[in-house]
Amino acid sequence: MAEVFAGAIDKGLEGVVACTTGISSIVDAQLFYSGYLIEDLAENSTFEEVVYLLWNGRLPKANELEKFNNELNANMSLSAEKVELLQKLPTKNVHPMAWLRSAVSMMALWDDKSQSDEDADRHEVALRLTAKVGSLVALFERTRQAKEYVSPQAGKSFAWNFLHMLNGVEPDADSVKVFDTCLILHADHELNCSAFSARVTASSLSDLYSAVTSAIGTLKGPLHGGANEAVMRMLLEIKTVDNAKAWIKSALENKEKVMGFGHRVYKNGDPRAKVLRGMSKILCENAGTEYYEMSKAIDDTVQSEKGLLPNVDFYSASVYYSMGIPLDLYTPIFATSRVSGWIAHIFEQYSKNRIYRPRGEWTGESSLKYVPVADR
Ligand code: ACO
Repeated sequence: MAEVFAGAIDKGLEGVVACTTGISSIVDAQLFYSGYLIEDLAENSTFEEVVYLLWNGRLPKANELEKFNNELNANMSLSAEKVELLQKLPTKNVHPMAWLRSAVSMMALWDDKSQSDEDADRHEVALRLTAKVGSLVALFERTRQAKEYVSPQAGKSFAWNFLHMLNGVEPDADSVKVFDTCLILHADHELNCSAFSARVTASSLSDLYSAVTSAIGTLKGPLHGGANEAVMRMLLEIKTVDNAKAWIKSALENKEKVMGFGHRVYKNGDPRAKVLRGMSKILCENAGTEYYEMSKAIDDTVQSEKGLLPNVDFYSASVYYSMGIPLDLYTPIFATSRVSGWIAHIFEQYSKNRIYRPRGEWTGESSLKYVPVADR
C-alpha cells in the first residue's frame, strides 16, 4: 500500500488538505471570501458583487460591477424553446433537486460552448449557469403550480428577479435585501462536499455542466444542503416552543441526528448561522410565528445536551419559511447561490489541474480461485 494519511481512512477525509485555494477560507472559526469577512460582505455587499469577488479574487470597481450585473441579468432568461421542453418534465412527486440536477444537465445540450476549453467560452458558460440555476428553480415551482414562466426584468438585481420569477409579483425591498443576504451567505464555503465533488469532476477535464451537475447531486443529500428542508420539517413536527426540549432530548436519546447542527470544521459555531439567527428573529416576529423561539429552544437544548452548535442550514429554514418559500425549494435556493462558488472552484481546478485519484485500502480476501458458475 502506498503511503497514506492513516487518520483519513473511512473518516470522510477529515483533516486532509486536498488542494490549495484562493476562493474562500475558514480561519479560527471565521469565514472569508477572498480575504473578506462574511459578516462584512453580508451587511454591505450584493450577491452579484460577491460572485465577481469569488471569480476574480478582488472586489470590482463601479464600472466593472455594472458590466457584470448586466451580464448576469442578460443571462437569466430561458428561451421559449427551453421553457416549453422543461415544462414537459415531470414535477409530481419529484424532488426539485432531482429536477434541477436533470435540467442543468439538459442545458448543456442547448449550449454550443459547453464542450469548449477556451477561457472566453468557459466564462460565457459560467455566466449562463450562474444566472440560470435560479431561473430553473423558479420555472420548476411555477410549472408544478400550473403557472406561466415569468421572464427576468432588465435593471433589477438577481435577488429581485429570482423572487419575481418565483412568485409572479414584485417583491418588496425588505424581502429582496433578506434574500440577497441569504445568497451571499451561501455562495461558497471552502472545500465543502459539493465543491469537492465539482472539483473531482473537473479534474478529469470534464466540462462545467458536468461538474455543476455532480455538485447539485452532492448538495442534495441531507447531510449537506438537504438539511435546511429537513430542519423546517422538524420545526413543523415539533409544533410549539413547549414541545421543543422534550422532542430534541428524545431524538438524541434515540441516537438520531438533529438536522442543522454540527459541522466538520466549525466546532465553536458557524458564523453564517449567527447572521441568519438575527434575520430569523426579525422575520418570525414580523410574521407573528413561533418558529424563531422554537428554533432557539432547540438550539439551547442541542447545545446543552450534545455540545453542538447550529450550522448554516438551521436558521435559514425559518427565514425561508417566513418568506413563504415552499419547503422543498430551500436546497434548490442553496444551489442557486452555491453554483457561483462551484464555478470558482472548477476554474481554480482547471488552472492547476491534476486528476484526483486517491487509493482504497483493500480489506477483502485475496487470491481467490475462480469457480465456474455450475460448480458454485
Ligand atoms: N445531531 C446529533 N448528533 C450529531 C450531529 C447532529 N446534528 N452532528 C454530529 N453529531 C454527533 C455524531 O453522531 C458524532 O457522535 P459520536 O462521536 O457519538 O458518534 C459526533 O457528533 C461527531 O459527528 P460526526 O458525524 O462525526 O461529524 P462529521 O464531521 O462527520 O459530520 C455533519 C458533520 C455531517 C454536518 C454532521 O454534524 C451532521 O450530520 N449534521 C446534521 C446534518 C446537517 O445539518 N448537515 C448540514 C451541514 S452544513 C452544510 O453542509 C451546508
